[in-house]
Amino acid sequence: MPIIFNKKQQVFHLKNEKVSYIIGIEKNRYLSHLYFGAPLTSYHRVNQAYLVERSFAPYFDPQDKNYATGTMLLENSTNGGGDYRVANYQIRNEAGQNFADFHYDSYKIYDGKKKIEGLPSIQGDKITSLEITLVEKNQQLEMILVYNLMEDLGVITRHTIFKNYSQNKVYLENAGSCLIDFPDSQYDFLHLYGSHASEAHPERFPLHRGIQEVNSLRGASSHQHHPFAALLKPETTEFSGEVFAFHFIYSGNFIIQAEVDQYETTRLQMGIHPDTFEWQLNPEETFETPEAVLNYSNEGLNGMSQNFHQLYLHYLSPKFWENKRRPVLLNTWEGNYFNFTEEELLQQSQVVKKAGIELFVLDDGWFGKRDSDHSSLGDWKSHKKKFSEGIIPFAKKINEEGLKFGLWFEPEMISPESELAKNHPDWAFHLKNETQYQSRNQWVLDLSRTDVQDYLIEMLRYYLSSGAIQYIKWDMNRHLSQVGNEIMPPLQQKELAHRHILGLYRILDTITTEFPEVLFENCSGGGGRFDPGMMAYMAQNWTSDNSDGPSRTFIQGGYSYLYPPVMMGAHVSAVPNHQLGRSASLATRSHIAFFGNFGYELDLSKLTPEEMEQVKKDVAFYQKHRELFQFGTFHRLENSWQGNSCAWLIQNEKEAMILYFNLLASPHRPLHYLKTKYLFNDALYENQETKEVFSGSELNQAGLLVSPYSQDFVTKIFHFKKV
Ligand code: GLA
Repeated sequence: MPIIFNKKQQVFHLKNEKVSYIIGIEKNRYLSHLYFGAPLTSYHRVNQAYLVERSFAPYFDPQDKNYATGTMLLENSTNGGGDYRVANYQIRNEAGQNFADFHYDSYKIYDGKKKIEGLPSIQGDKITSLEITLVEKNQQLEMILVYNLMEDLGVITRHTIFKNYSQNKVYLENAGSCLIDFPDSQYDFLHLYGSHASEAHPERFPLHRGIQEVNSLRGASSHQHHPFAALLKPETTEFSGEVFAFHFIYSGNFIIQAEVDQYETTRLQMGIHPDTFEWQLNPEETFETPEAVLNYSNEGLNGMSQNFHQLYLHYLSPKFWENKRRPVLLNTWEGNYFNFTEEELLQQSQVVKKAGIELFVLDDGWFGKRDSDHSSLGDWKSHKKKFSEGIIPFAKKINEEGLKFGLWFEPEMISPESELAKNHPDWAFHLKNETQYQSRNQWVLDLSRTDVQDYLIEMLRYYLSSGAIQYIKWDMNRHLSQVGNEIMPPLQQKELAHRHILGLYRILDTITTEFPEVLFENCSGGGGRFDPGMMAYMAQNWTSDNSDGPSRTFIQGGYSYLYPPVMMGAHVSAVPNHQLGRSASLATRSHIAFFGNFGYELDLSKLTPEEMEQVKKDVAFYQKHRELFQFGTFHRLENSWQGNSCAWLIQNEKEAMILYFNLLASPHRPLHYLKTKYLFNDALYENQETKEVFSGSELNQAGLLVSPYSQDFVTKIFHFKKV
C-alpha cells in the first residue's frame, strides 16, 4: 500500500519510488506537515515538530502553551486563531464571525481516485487516495483534505472539500486547495511570467521574507502569470538538485503565494484567488476546490518536467488522443486574416494538399458578418457572402479533397454588434447602470447561466454532428471585467467568477465527451489560458500568437517546463514575421516548429517553387519522424534565456533528434560543445547526416561540437539512430 497510516506514531506516509510526503496528527487536533522530498524507507518522527512556548503566539489551552498554530509547520490553516501566516481557508458564519477551528476526526485510504464534481482532475488506475476528515464541532462543518499519490511519478495531488451539516448558511471567503509549510527558507522561487505574444518566461529569485506571489484576477489563468510556481534549492539546475513544484488545475482566478516568516520557515499556499471569490454554502451542501499538483524531483528542472509531461499526457489529457498521432495542419489566420473568399480558400487548400499537409483549419472570419473583429461573435452561422452554400458544404469539399477540416470558434464571447446581443442583451456579464467595457470590441458571455451554456452546447453539437469537422480551435480573446448579472442575489455576486469557469467546464465536458474523436486545440490569444484545467478537455494548445521561430525558443522552452511538445501548436509563418518583422530562414522556422505540434500558418501559394519544394520535404520529414517528435521524451539542454543558444533533445528507444539554435553570431566564435546528457550511455549512435558513430556516453559527457555560426538565428538538427 503506497499510503500508510502508522497509528502509534499518528503519521500518514505517502510513498513511492520517487517521493515521500508525510503528515502528522498532533494531539488529535491539528495536522502537521512533517516531510516532502526524496523517498524514505520508513519514518519515525525524527524531525518531530519542536513545540516551545513563543511570545505573541495565542494558544487554545492555558495548560499547553507550546501548542500554538502560529508556530507550527502545518498542512492546513486559517486566520483568526493565532496563525498569522497566509491562510488556506476563511469561513464567515451567519453571526458574522470569521473563525472556524477544524480538528482531526478520521481518515480513509483507498485505491483509485474519485472525480471532482464539476471540475477537471487527474484520473487514472495507478493512483492511491487518502482523505483526512476534519470537523468544526461548534459550527457543524466538515473539511476533507484529499491527497492522491501517483504510483509511478513523483507527484501528489491535493484538494479540499467543505461540507455544511448545520442548519445555517456559511460563507466561504477563501477556499484554498493546498497549504504546506517547509521548515526552512533556503529556496529560489521560480515562476513563468509573460504577456500576449510573449508567454512563459521563467523568472527565478531567492525567497525574501514576507510574501511573494503570482496570481490572476483576469477571469482566466492568463498570459501574465502561469498558475505555476516552484521552490528550488539554490544549487538546483536543469540537470540536478531538488525541485518542489506546484501547478493548479484551474482556468480562472488563482493565487500561489510563498511566505517566509519570522522563524525562517516557508509556507506555500495555492487556490482560487479569494479577492474575487465567495461561496454561500447552504445546509447539506458541499463545495470542492480545484486540484493542486505537487511535483517533487531531485533530478533538477528536467526531472520536474518529466513528471509533469507524463502526468498530463497519461493522467489528464483526453484519453482518445493519448497516443494518437496529430495531423500536420495549415491554419488560415496569418495568411488571410479576415479577407478571403470560398474560391480563394479552395485554391489554397489544393496547394496545402500538394504539400502533404493533412488538416486545413479555417480560422476567424467565416461566420455572421465577420470581416473584422468588430462584429458577429455569438452569431455562429455561415458568412453568407463568403460561403454561398454554407460552411458545412465547404467543409465537405475540403474533406473530399482528402484533407481533414478544422474550424475556429470563440464560443465564450459576444460582439455588441451581433444578433445575439440584440436578442439577449442580458447574456453578457454586466453591472446594473454601468457602461459595459469592451476589449477587442467584445463582451464576455455569462457562462454561470445554464441557458447560455445550453445555447453554446446546442450550437457546437449542430456543427460537430455534421461529421465534416475533425478539429476545433477554441479561442478566448479578452479577459473578464465587470463580472455581474441580475440573477444572482447581491450577496452571491462574488460566486460568479468561479461559476463562470464551472459553466465553461460543463460545456467542454459535454461536447468533448460526445465527440471524443474531434481534436480540440485550446487558445486564448495563444497561451492566455494554457493551463491544466483546459488541457483536461483539449489535447493541444496554440502556444502563442507570436509565430516568430527565434521567439518560440523562449516560449516553447518556457512552456516545456510543464507540457510536452505534443501539447504545443507550432507553425511556420511568413517572413518578415507579422509580430516582430524578423526574417528567420525557412529552415530555422521549420526546425523550431518540429519541436511542437507541427503546422503552417501562411499562404503557401505565395512561396517560391524552391520554398515549396522545401516545405514538401519538411512535411515529409516530420511525418516520417512524427512518433518521435510527438511522443518522444523531451529534455532541455540549453536555454535561450540563459545564454546565446538553445538546444533541445527528443528521443525514444531507437533514435534521437537534437535541435541546436544559435541566437546572435559572434565574431570570435568560441568552441561550443553541446552535451546531450540524456542519451543511453551504453548505446552507439549514428549521425544520420555524416554517418559517424559515437557512443551515447561520449555525446552525453564530452559533447557534440556545434559549429561556430557566422549568422544570427540559425539552427541545426542532428538526427542520431542507435546502431
Ligand atoms: C486570436 C488567436 C489567433 C487567431 C485570432 C483570430 O488572437 O490567438 O491565432 O485565431 O484570435 O481572431
